[in-house]
Amino acid sequence: MTRMLERSAALSAAVARPAQEIPLSLTHAAAHPPRRRSRWPARLDLLQSASGLFLALFLVAHMFFVSSILISQEAFYTVARFFEGAYFLATPQPWIVSCVVGGVLAVFVLHAWLALRKFPASFRQYKAFAEHRTRLRHDDTGLWWLQLWTGFALFFLAGIHLYGMLVHPEMIGPYESADRVWTGSMWPLYLLLLFAAEIHGSIGLYRLALKWDWLPGRNPDAARRRLRLLKTAFSLFFIGLGLVSLLAYGRLGIAHAERAGERYVPGGDGRLATTLAGGAGVMPAHVPGRQGD
Ligand code: HEM
Repeated sequence: MTRMLERSAALSAAVARPAQEIPLSLTHAAAHPPRRRSRWPARLDLLQSASGLFLALFLVAHMFFVSSILISQEAFYTVARFFEGAYFLATPQPWIVSCVVGGVLAVFVLHAWLALRKFPASFRQYKAFAEHRTRLRHDDTGLWWLQLWTGFALFFLAGIHLYGMLVHPEMIGPYESADRVWTGSMWPLYLLLLFAAEIHGSIGLYRLALKWDWLPGRNPDAARRRLRLLKTAFSLFFIGLGLVSLLAYGRLGIAHAERAGERYVPGGDGRLATTLAGGAGVMPAHVPGRQGD
């Protein structure tokens, strides 16, 4: 931990030090003994890395939970009720989901607040960086730029999604989610959110690995190339998984549009049959009552 702080402090100090501050002569250095540098920039950097890592790992788990709709409607229903404690408490408690969302939201806000330090603060800074990037043409500088813009988009896109989950935790289920995606017109937002989150997350993990020296192997160039491949594979896999899941929610939502608002009842006669290969078809129309009515 101390090593990480020292390493981060050295990096932050090197980047933050303006050219004029570099000692001109020994006399000058003797007359102005170096002030003890604050460790706060390093601590904040570490906090940003840790919160980013947490969010990236959360996103990985979240994408697997959400894609359980690809197994079956019941599988997704089981996952949703599991997080409400249905299998270890007497009745499902959606407020547990709200608490989890609250925790994720808190980390998300903290991470975004820490990232604000790195945003260009004025048009002049923005232009300077844009020119620098064009002149440098370095792949990793381009990635940093992409991460900045996807992060900016996430402020809004993830904020809307998290707020919905926070205030309506009981509305998570095969029909409930599918209705939100289709009848509730959330699919365009989810589509943008999917690309922004996966690109931002994969670049974030790649940069974390570089920053904290998690490079696999001894040859740094080869290791960097391998990391880049991993990063691309990570993005492609989760974007692909997200797209097929979103398609499944969309098709179920279209099939259920006439009865939007109806809650899912496991094993109910009114289940809609949707398979990715076979298309969405409606099984015999029996409309079960709202769950809990
Ligand atoms: C604890 C917090 C969260 C919960 C409970 C949650 C829950 C869900 C649920 C149930 C869905 C399925 C659609 C729906 O019901 O509306 C969904 C979809 C989605 N969520 Fe979240 N989510 C959370 C946080 C996040 C975060 C932080 C991100 C990204 C930064 C995210 C990105 C997405 C995306 C991209 C989709 C669409 C998935 C797809 O393409 O199939 N979620 N989420």
